[in-house]
Amino acid sequence: MSSVNTAIQLITREQAAGSAAASTCSPALARGPWDYDLAEALAGKPAYGPGASAADVAPASTPRQGQLPEEYKRASDAELDARIRAAKATLGDRAVVLGHFYQRDEVIQYADFVGDSFQLANAALTRPDAEAIIFCGVHFMAETADILSRPDQAVILPNLAAGCSMADMADIDSVTECWEQLGELFGTEPDADGRVPVIPVTYMNSSAALKGFCGENGGIVCTSSNASTVLEWAFERGQRVLFFPDQHLGRNTAKAMGVPLEQMPLWNPRKDLGGNAEQTLIDSRVILWHGFCSVHKRFNVGQIEKARAEFPGVQVIVHPECPMEVVDAADSAGSTDFIKKAIAAATEPSTFAVGTEINMVNRLAAEYPQHTIFCLDPVICPCSTMYRIHPGYLAWVLEALVRGEVVNRITVADDVAGPAKVALERMLAARP
Ligand code: 13P
Ligand code: SF4
Repeated sequence: MSSVNTAIQLITREQAAGSAAASTCSPALARGPWDYDLAEALAGKPAYGPGASAADVAPASTPRQGQLPEEYKRASDAELDARIRAAKATLGDRAVVLGHFYQRDEVIQYADFVGDSFQLANAALTRPDAEAIIFCGVHFMAETADILSRPDQAVILPNLAAGCSMADMADIDSVTECWEQLGELFGTEPDADGRVPVIPVTYMNSSAALKGFCGENGGIVCTSSNASTVLEWAFERGQRVLFFPDQHLGRNTAKAMGVPLEQMPLWNPRKDLGGNAEQTLIDSRVILWHGFCSVHKRFNVGQIEKARAEFPGVQVIVHPECPMEVVDAADSAGSTDFIKKAIAAATEPSTFAVGTEINMVNRLAAEYPQHTIFCLDPVICPCSTMYRIHPGYLAWVLEALVRGEVVNRITVADDVAGPAKVALERMLAARP
């Protein structure tokens, strides 16, 4: 099976010839991400680039990538391949390359570890001799690796514009403002069982500043694989939870734990009290931040109905960042690691319709040819920010390391990293 990138190149050529059989949400994905580094520089403001988050608004503070040297933009695939392999061989154990499941195949082929965001942050710890951790993923993942790694290890994000539109939907100022409003409403006194009025819980897909906020305010981090364990931890200590940034992960997890929907109000950061009546917040169990992932928002119940009609017996597995109706209509929902393990565990040839990012789904289809595996979304629409990493940037950061230069280092300030690590360690210690 061809890579997502190759498929998009083909669709774009076929569209030009008027004969395209498949479709992509943006033919601009066929171009090099450096075009978008330049577009941002010319426009004076950041944007997520083509793909699922193209319509989301990037905050003005979003990191931007300077111009990639021309030689890396012009290099052929074969030349980049030879240069990356040579640089990796020269660096040996001094550098480790991490690749998230959602990265393009053209990058994943160079990864020493492939995994989900938390597995990769931990993978960095298994290579204490590495001076440089090259994180082919997105910004919050590189920040987490920096928090968990040794201070002298440099974490490098090959393209600084590889952020996450969902993580950007909750910023420290808006969450602090929300926290102050909730404090005025609920006070700070614990109830008769010693539970404080509200515990902040942040999804791993958030800035280090928000992880630090949770560390400082009795809160915790969760991933999509441990969200229910973490919510149980929080309910033992608090009457309510403030969950950010992903409303869908929060809603899907709390609903599965028996929390009624009417006790899960949505907090709109642009409105006073998040747009809620005081009593609604007082009666709440989980206050959900108004954030979402534009990749997973593309999945809908109609796609599941179509898959079931066309492939009787199909197993539908979706990520919990999908809307609630989609998770309810699927056979199962879980993290990227859950999806991978569910497919690996199937002993008989089976059909799987998967609701997560297309690079991961296509890779699973190639890895397990005995099964029929396809993405629920018929339109090829990758994550806009994962797309911003291309082999050209990897070659650039690796060759700089060979020369003794560290470019694109991600550093979390000590006053943020300390409390953020507290919130991450609470997550590691939480047990079902
Ligand atoms: P994982 O934590 O499963 O790697 O997911 C990260 C992500 O960005 C999902 O959209
Ligand atoms: Fe962020 Fe969604 Fe991309 Fe994951 S898939 S990095 S949540 S935008």
